[in-house]
Amino acid sequence: MEKIIILGGIGNGTVIAQAIVDANNRGSNEYEIVGYLNDREEVGSSIEGFPVLGKIKEASNFAKQGYKFINTLYRIDGQQERLDLFQSLELVDSDLAIFVHPTAFVAPNVEIEPGAVIMPYVMISAGAMIGKGTLIMVGASIGHNTKLGPYNHIAAQAVVGAYIETGIGVHIGLNATVRENLVIGDHATLGMGAVLTKNINQKEIWIGNPAIFLRNVK
Ligand SMILES: CC(C)(COP(=O)(O)OP(=O)(O)OC[C@H]1O[C@@H](n2cnc3c(N)ncnc32)[C@H](O)[C@@H]1OP(=O)(O)O)[C@@H](O)C(=O)NCCC(=O)NCCS
Repeated sequence: MEKIIILGGIGNGTVIAQAIVDANNRGSNEYEIVGYLNDREEVGSSIEGFPVLGKIKEASNFAKQGYKFINTLYRIDGQQERLDLFQSLELVDSDLAIFVHPTAFVAPNVEIEPGAVIMPYVMISAGAMIGKGTLIMVGASIGHNTKLGPYNHIAAQAVVGAYIETGIGVHIGLNATVRENLVIGDHATLGMGAVLTKNINQKEIWIGNPAIFLRNVK
């Protein structure tokens, strides 16, 4: 089994760790979680059963020892900052794990880039592309021929239609729905429960049904 370190902790980090444990309980045995790199908790402490092994900036030392990484440091306001931190670690693609939970349906011709996570009961239709480090959370649906950019966060139960293109660091909120053929710019956010019928420019937050502009990301 490849040994996985999660960058992050409570939240995306712990739910992804538990999904990997569950995959192993179902016989997958692809990855073993060894712990977290986390800047808020003390080294040696435990986050829901797995140890904090060090600080985020130590990732490349662990990479040299053969550990693989999943990055879960995502935030709506401040995603650029989080991305800058991740990129400063200088991890290469072969340092990043791709995790697909065994209950997910992923069409055989879907392309998934390094560091992406596909959580339980996700559905990804034919011809879709999932960018580097993009997290698709439980029960989300991704339509055919949709291209999700790098470092997106698609929250639980979101429904993203067909032929959609998203930029870098896009968040799509819980249970939001995106109409087909739309473009969502870099670091944009669609709020929870929204119904998107128009394109979103970069760094804008849209909410509601039909979705309208709320504010720019901070
Ligand atoms: C859109 C979002 C980022 C806005 O956050 P925010 O800037 O802190 O906004 P506020 O909570 O200050 O709300 C501002 C206004 O928008 C409304 N609002 C906020 N989010 C909304 C949403 N998703 N749909 C409709 N209205 C919303 C609030 O009720 C408030 O209205 P008011 O001014 O009439 O009182 C946030 O509400 C959201 O949807 N986040 C995504 C949550 C999610 O999917 N998490 C996934 C990980 S668990």
